[in-house]
Amino acid sequence: CGWDAGSPEAYVAQIERLRSGGVEVVEGDLAGARERGVKAYAAFDDPNGFRQEIAYGLEDAATPFTSEFMKDGFSTGDGGFGHILVKVADYRASEAFALKFLDGKISDHIYLGEGAGRTEMAFIHMNERHHSVAFFEGAIPASKKIHHFMVETPSFEDVGRAYDRVQAAGIPIGVSIGQHSNDRELSFYCITPGGFWMEVGAGGVRVDDATWLPGEYDSVSSWGHKFQGGLLRIFIFISYSMRKRYCRAIVAFKF
Ligand SMILES: [Fe+2]
Repeated sequence: CGWDAGSPEAYVAQIERLRSGGVEVVEGDLAGARERGVKAYAAFDDPNGFRQEIAYGLEDAATPFTSEFMKDGFSTGDGGFGHILVKVADYRASEAFALKFLDGKISDHIYLGEGAGRTEMAFIHMNERHHSVAFFEGAIPASKKIHHFMVETPSFEDVGRAYDRVQAAGIPIGVSIGQHSNDRELSFYCITPGGFWMEVGAGGVRVDDATWLPGEYDSVSSWGHKFQGGLLRIFIFISYSMRKRYCRAIVAFKF
């Protein structure tokens, strides 16, 4: 997960802030910076070992990105690239770290189920996007630390067309199209060859800190977002894509 400090001064201040709080920060080399298209970057782990990077001086491409498929482009700008959902052993520790060191603010919490079926999730924003990162622990499985990442488009039509395209290409759908209860995002999830999921969505709410009140929800979605069993189909796809690693990946599909 990478964060844009915005300026060299903010970058240096952020490293100092982490170090003075007892967090080990490893500054990257020139080759790594070139690879990432940034002037400089540094890496650190949160209390759950979730590796993150801070950088400044992101290179601009010579021309704006355009896609023949996503006609209306992607919603990025001040809201950043998108968001990720990360499974951790102690989500409260990651939440506290993001609030203390990364200027994160709570958007919402979702609490699902009871006992062995319990899952607790914290959604955190650093900008106008409803959440840039969310942490959870509990019953929902994930084959990787990253459960999914999301890209957002301003067009519901582009989401629907992507949904069609993904299925036509034989890529397994993890969760059907639906709408989230907290950020109102209309989206679907497909399964990447790496085993983690990708969410494609539109319509996520934007947060205004002057008026935002963090909420609590007992559901992830207000409609849709049905888990797509199709275990055999998923098994074939993953075993083809990941060869010997299919056993680990298959665990993630047993909701
Ligand atoms: Fe998401």
